[in-house]
Amino acid sequence: MDYKALTKEFNTPFYLYDFDKIRSNFKALKEAFRARKSQIFYAVKANSNLSLLSMLASLDSGFDCVSIGEVKRALKAGAKPYKVIFSGVAKNETELKEALKLGILYINLESFEEMKSLEKIAKKLHIKARISVRLNPNVDAKTHPYISTGLKENKFGVRLDEAKKIYLYAAKSEFLEPVGVHFHIGSQITDLKPIFEAATLTAKLVRELNAAKIELKFFDVGGGLGVVYQNESEPDLNAYAQGILASLSGLDLTICLEPGRFLVAKCGELVTSVLYEKMNGDKRFVIVDAAMNDLMRPSLYKAYHAIEMPYNSGEMSLCDVVGGICESSDFFAQNRALPKAKNGDILIIKDAGAYGFSMSSNYNTRPRACELALEKGQIRQIRKRESFRQLIENEVGFLK
Ligand code: LLP
Repeated sequence: MDYKALTKEFNTPFYLYDFDKIRSNFKALKEAFRARKSQIFYAVKANSNLSLLSMLASLDSGFDCVSIGEVKRALKAGAKPYKVIFSGVAKNETELKEALKLGILYINLESFEEMKSLEKIAKKLHIKARISVRLNPNVDAKTHPYISTGLKENKFGVRLDEAKKIYLYAAKSEFLEPVGVHFHIGSQITDLKPIFEAATLTAKLVRELNAAKIELKFFDVGGGLGVVYQNESEPDLNAYAQGILASLSGLDLTICLEPGRFLVAKCGELVTSVLYEKMNGDKRFVIVDAAMNDLMRPSLYKAYHAIEMPYNSGEMSLCDVVGGICESSDFFAQNRALPKAKNGDILIIKDAGAYGFSMSSNYNTRPRACELALEKGQIRQIRKRESFRQLIENEVGFLK
């Protein structure tokens, strides 16, 4: 890749995504589940660029959305409503109403109260709402506590007994139709056992519901499949599929997958330029033009992202790679060995395709970066860098 030419044309920082690689990840995941009916619902939150969603829609991907904004994004990108599901612990009435009107496949419910609220809305609209219930199986996903979601102390989902109550109520309701069951115990999971444990508990519930004459169609196993950022052990795709399939023996359900990170994390990088290098005593800092507002993962989770300087060589020494935001949490790497750097050198923050741009902000009144896609050897811009005008345009009374 000619990063120098890209930098010249688009300026830095920018995100660069490899669409061909995303496509091949998608196909590999689909292939791993070939023994059963399955449907991938890409977790839009991981990277919600419309061009990326549109490329996935062309592969027949569905979309897992956690706000009505994400639902609308998916539809705008060409998704069919029956390939969209709506999850999240805090969907409000307006969102539920819109989702019902749009005729999406199902809504993942996370509480009895939410179900009652949805029933009321469905009744008003004279629609039968297709629902699924998100279980909280109380299983430890063994991942970073901020992205672990399947323990009883987490806000997500409902306990098994509560789920049963929801299904029994919904099955009798004129305006609700239970069609699925859902769990998602966390993200960046590299030891698959907790996922299989959750799948087994969920399948047990499905069997109990069947005994009560409640038949479901969809078995939604969430996302969570981890990737290698540093030295994690890479989860095996076939083992993942086999473990889930094994939990379903004797049940005829479509498996719904909600991968985010697995599809896109390793297919994106954040390209930035060095502004300065400086020493504070014997501590070395490489200061770049991207910052934590562009990629929050290191600041928020102390997440590791590999860093490359494709045009620099020579002796390496330890440094912190930092941005220009007025916080000491604004770093991309700490104590990382890198060659000597000077103004204009290009530095690449790897594996930033998931939860990179989608978590970026305008903190310090910084415009969000532009996004580029590489597809069949061609580069194209899929989002422009924000302008100052865009940053202030909602602040009434100041635009002339
Ligand atoms: N389904 C549901 C209901 C989810 O909450 C999530 C992610 C996914 C699917 C997709 O999970 P994945 O396959 O990407 O692990 N910002 C964090 C990750 C937060 C994940 C939130 N939920 C990070 O940068 O690591």
